[in-house]
Amino acid sequence: MEQKPQIQWFPGHMAKTRRKITENLSLVDAVAEVVDARIPVSSRNPELSALIAAKPRLVVLNKADMADAAATRRWCAHFRAAGYAVMTADCKTGAGVQKCVPLLHELLADKLAAKREKGMKNPTVRLMVVGIPNVGKSSFINKLTGGKAKVEDRPGVTRSKQWVPVDPTLELLDTPGILWPKFDDPEVGKRLAFTGAVKDDVLDIEELACYLMDYLAAHYADTLTERYKIEVEPGDTGCELLEKAGRKRGFLMRGAQVDTERMARILLDEFRAGKLGRFTLETAPTEEVTP
Ligand code: G4P
Repeated sequence: MEQKPQIQWFPGHMAKTRRKITENLSLVDAVAEVVDARIPVSSRNPELSALIAAKPRLVVLNKADMADAAATRRWCAHFRAAGYAVMTADCKTGAGVQKCVPLLHELLADKLAAKREKGMKNPTVRLMVVGIPNVGKSSFINKLTGGKAKVEDRPGVTRSKQWVPVDPTLELLDTPGILWPKFDDPEVGKRLAFTGAVKDDVLDIEELACYLMDYLAAHYADTLTERYKIEVEPGDTGCELLEKAGRKRGFLMRGAQVDTERMARILLDEFRAGKLGRFTLETAPTEEVTP
């Protein structure tokens, strides 16, 4: 599939983002990396590790309300094994966000103890939020600060930094660091498109829906049967299934031809709205899972 993502990251843009993040890093004690729990690999930028180096990191598996709960547990274990503090969140409702402060205290325990030893009574922790577009960075900041932050997250917008108090022990930089997604791998591009991180008007909707059907047929065939009342036969391609679903729904054009474009939009809309259920499109390596 040819990817023409909505967000074009040019070298200049990347350099500017890198510079900004590096600059802000010197001011914070920890970084919260927000990822989409449905695509914890594709919604990360692999360059972040090089950028933030040894800075303590909290991984926020956001949109957990839309992800497969068992898969999210495995991802939590995976990130924990990599040495990060981890939390899940639903930043639409705010569920889980309250775990952030205690987790940061745990993550930064040594640093806080050292500050107290130096005579600081109530040392404050400073945090910045980073992530690729649409993972929920602004929603996270808003929920965490109870709406006190005025989030401006358009790339390239320069504004003076503002620290927003979350509680007496935590201050948040109100501007998230926006990383660029990695589009070089077409599979990554597809997953970003399935979840709606890439806008549809720049993609071939039918092609994308065929890929999604393929994926769902391979992993969640029962869901397709339940939702679209179609039989998934061995060897059915995604496009054939899209046609079957459209026919079943009665989306017919002249000559009894199925309006597959209409069905494609419906499949993607329903998938993104969670009407087909909760899905995680990427599997965590299992070896790190602790019982
Ligand atoms: P960003 O700053 O990283 O770019 O992301 P932002 O907070 O703007 O969130 C992107 C979209 O994801 C928003 O939806 C937001 O409501 C939604 N969202 C954020 N966190 C969660 C979550 O944990 N669960 C769910 N289900 N959705 C989440 P939108 O369609 O752009 O706007 P709207 O629906 O809020 O109007």
